This record gives sequence, C-alpha cells and structure tokens, in this order.
Amino acid sequence: MTIRTVHHVTELQAELAEWRARRESIALVPTMGNLHAGHLSLVQRAHQLGECVVVSVFVNPLQFGPGEDFERYPRTLEADAALLRQAGAHVLFAPAVADMYPGGYPPLTTVRVGGSLTDILDGHFRPGHFDGVATVVNILFNLVRPDVAVFGEKDWQQLQVIRRMVADLGMAVRVVGVPTARDADGLALSSRNQYLGAAERALAPRLYAALQAVAAGIEAGRRDFEVLCLEQKRALEAEGFRPQYLEVRSQDLSPARAEATAFVALVAAYLGGTRLIDNLSLRLVS
Ligand code: PAJ
Repeated sequence: MTIRTVHHVTELQAELAEWRARRESIALVPTMGNLHAGHLSLVQRAHQLGECVVVSVFVNPLQFGPGEDFERYPRTLEADAALLRQAGAHVLFAPAVADMYPGGYPPLTTVRVGGSLTDILDGHFRPGHFDGVATVVNILFNLVRPDVAVFGEKDWQQLQVIRRMVADLGMAVRVVGVPTARDADGLALSSRNQYLGAAERALAPRLYAALQAVAAGIEAGRRDFEVLCLEQKRALEAEGFRPQYLEVRSQDLSPARAEATAFVALVAAYLGGTRLIDNLSLRLVS
C-alpha cells in the first residue's frame, strides 16, 4: 500500500473515516519532520499498536521561544515522505499553520500542564515551551482521534507532560513511549545534530557518557545526587560544553529519593550554538 499525503483537515478526516468504517485502529506518531532512525523506530512501534499508522509533520511555532531555531529548523518534507513510504506508514499529515490552528494563530485557548512538571528542567530554560507542545498535541489528538499515540523517551519530560495531560483531561488515547535511538558512539539521534561542526560532533557523545557516569555512581550506591551531577557538569564544562542542567530525578520527574529504586538522569547543554538534550533512566535490581 502506498502512503497518502494530506495537508488539510478535511482530507485527513475523509481518509481516516475509511479506516474507522473498517473498525481499524489508528496509531499516531507526532513529529516535526526531518526524520531520522529515531522517528522511524516510533513508526515501527506504531505498526505493532494500530492498523492505520498516521505520522504528522508540523514544525509547531507555538513551542519555539524568541531567539530559538524555528526559522532555521530543517524542513525536508519530500525526504520525509520517502522514508515514511519505506517504513510503511499509511497517512502523512503535513498541515500548514492555518490547518493546525483552525481557530486562528496564535490560539486563544492553550493547554498548560502544571508547573511541577513544566517549570523545571527544559521548561525552566524554555518558558512556555511545554504549553506549546501540550496545545499542539491536544489539537492533533482532536483532529486525528488516534487510539494510541507514540512518543520518544529522548524527550523524557515531554513524554511525562503528555501522559499527565491525557490523565488529567481524561483523553481516550493510550500513550506509548519508545527508547532513545542512538548513533554507535552513543549520541542520541536528533534533527539538531546536523547543526554540529565536525569537532563538535566528535565531542557530542560525551553528553551520554556523563549520564552513564551518573548512573554508574547511583549503581555503586551513591545518593549524593547534587554532588554527583555537579562533578559531571564540571567535566562537561571542562570539555567545552555549556551545561544548563544535569539532574537526577524520579522517573515521573518528582525529586529523587535516596531509597528509591528507579531514577532518570537528564541533561541539557550547549555545544557551540547547538542545544542538545539527553537522558538515561535506570532501575536498580536487588
Ligand atoms: P520531534 O523532535 O520531531 O520528535 C518527534 C518524536 O520523535 C518525539 O516523540 C521524540 O521524542 C521522538 N524522537 C526524537 N529523537 C528520537 C530518538 N533519538 N529516539 C527515539 N525517539 C526520538 O518532539 C517533537 O518533535 C514535538 O515536540 C512534537 C511532539 C511533534 C510536538 O510538536
């Protein structure tokens, strides 16, 4: 079967009506495009979860702050469509701003998940970012009405924000997380990696190594999370990164407790002009 590319909501809904009439379930993979193997692993997972795999490609202006990379974010729809065709996706939804924000842009109505999840970590350094994400994902859910939606653990905080929105608002969609796809040297795949120069690209896997060092410390019994993270932050700074945060938290992003058995270490750092994020979750086995 070949992929259907649709740009407008009416076309999308006509296409999905056919799947619904056959009582086939719909799995949605929201993206901003410029697809790589990480995105494609989400598409693969979506195939296991639903009959109709819908991938949205939309660079959402509402989630970019002033001075961020909205204008220069790579837009590669033709290449994305080719990759999705190979991956067997059924519907590619590539709306314009006016299609995605049917009431007009910017929307007067937004979705805000509370500050305990959105004022910390990335939310602290990107004010309003998660409001933009929650709002656009809510609109996507309304337009597509998926049975299941697939997100990457690469954006751990985003995944928690969406899970909480779905729980709080009683939304009838199952949210599934997929582990982070990495290059052989450990660097998490990201559309932003292509902003890196050769020397920066060579250094970039150190970000994941710092998370692994934090995880090794916890596994060795250390519970002085702040000191542990500070050591790795200093090491990153010495190597030329400008870290914004490196923290250990519970997997739901509440403060880490010494007696807990599951944690996540999260990091954001600039390398030159490129902002990279990564995280590593760990579960202690006794
Ligand atoms: P984008 O950055 O394009 O990512 C789309 C999805 O792919 C997200 O769920 C993200 O976590 C996942 N992803 C990215 N890199 C990955 C990797 N290396 N391994 C596994 N999954 C990965 O995240 C967004 O777009 C937007 O915020 C969006 C949810 C589409 C809302 O606009």
